[in-house]
Amino acid sequence: MTAAAAALTLLMPSPAVPSPGSPGLGDAYFKYAGNGGYDVDHYDVALTYAGPRTGAVEATVSITARAVQDLSAFDLDFRGPEIVDVTVDGRSARHARAGQELTVTPASPLPRGRTFTAVVRYSGRPRPIQSQAYGTYGWVPSKDGAVVVSEPDGAPTWLPVNDHPRDKATYAFRVTVPQGLRVLANGRPGETVTGAGTATYTWAEESPMASYLAMVAIGRFRVRETTASGVPVITAVDPKYKASAKEFEERTVKALTWASGVFGPYPFATAGGVVDDARLDYALEAQERPVYGGFVPGEAFVVHEIAHQWFGDSVSLERWQDIWLNEGFATYAEWLWRERSGKDSARKIFKRYYAQRADSPIFAPPPGDPGAAELFGFSVYVRGAMCLQALRERIGDRAFFQVLRTWAASRRDSSATTEEFVAHAERVSGRRLGPLFDAWLKGRGKPRKW
Ligand code: ARG
Ligand code: ZN
Repeated sequence: MTAAAAALTLLMPSPAVPSPGSPGLGDAYFKYAGNGGYDVDHYDVALTYAGPRTGAVEATVSITARAVQDLSAFDLDFRGPEIVDVTVDGRSARHARAGQELTVTPASPLPRGRTFTAVVRYSGRPRPIQSQAYGTYGWVPSKDGAVVVSEPDGAPTWLPVNDHPRDKATYAFRVTVPQGLRVLANGRPGETVTGAGTATYTWAEESPMASYLAMVAIGRFRVRETTASGVPVITAVDPKYKASAKEFEERTVKALTWASGVFGPYPFATAGGVVDDARLDYALEAQERPVYGGFVPGEAFVVHEIAHQWFGDSVSLERWQDIWLNEGFATYAEWLWRERSGKDSARKIFKRYYAQRADSPIFAPPPGDPGAAELFGFSVYVRGAMCLQALRERIGDRAFFQVLRTWAASRRDSSATTEEFVAHAERVSGRRLGPLFDAWLKGRGKPRKW
């Protein structure tokens, strides 16, 4: 080849060399959460649970995803039990584990744009995570079964997953349990098939869902079904709480009906909730079916989890730093719920909080960047909700409720950032709101001017 030809060759686009997908998505709070190089469309989860005595599972998870780069290998997030094997498009694939990264090397590289199916089989006893900041979460054994509550990064305790709310996907669950136990999960129930001493329950989550919201609850349950303005409402309580089953259903229906009036049409196919005996002392807004761990929730608590269906579940986080978009909004829903009774108002609640000392934990850290350890701290919930009250007083009720409703409607089934919310509020209200949001979300200590 001549020198000129060689130079030309150098200038020509060479076929891309396949490279491994990155082990994280660059989330500032969870470096290894999610993975680069592909985008998941669907998880099909087939799991057999042996019973509470061993707590063992055998699972086959099929992940349908699309390569977004030429991939020589890709990671899944997985902290679960022993892997039996991994295939990609039906061919055996090499796998290696390090920390929560499961690296899969397909027999041949996956070209950018290719839709592929990875199947991971594993078996053993999944364990929860116990942490200072988040308590017990992930796959949590209970007296009579197990329940999953994974926020923020607990999904890999039981699922090989692209564990970031930015990569939402649909889910199908097929869970086999010893006869006498029941299974609840996200979404719509399908058929139940009984075998020799077993029952297989199927559930389908048909709206895109963040992985930390994926839920199964296994155990003995009292299950009730009703509807609220056309939406099927499925609730379940551990037998320990059977006396409260009806009351729990009523609270859920009431919260759903009220929230649909305030925030706009309910974003999912079904609704409900599970009161499990696992004593977590917190709840999680699992999509279509929130989980309450070890207590029967009061009205305001249910309102909080139901409000998350709009704010957090349907409109998800693009990055964990923006957690106030979930918790500030759900807490503000509780204030609106109290306002509706006429006895209190969001403004009064705001004022009572604002009267607290400047060094109160409700004011620090700033909810717009609380740090991973304070993701569920008071300031994210309370100062986050105060930010919305400040916004409401600046732009007036009409614009404020329009901002909330159009935010939920326009971002339905997607993920968003604080900057996008600020821009949205400015657009809807026609006001410049940067300084107000900065004061409430970013400023140190108790905001004095906004
Ligand atoms: N999003 C939940 C709520 O506000 C809180 C989840 C806390 N997670 C945890 N592992 N403690 O209801
Ligand atoms: Zn919440």
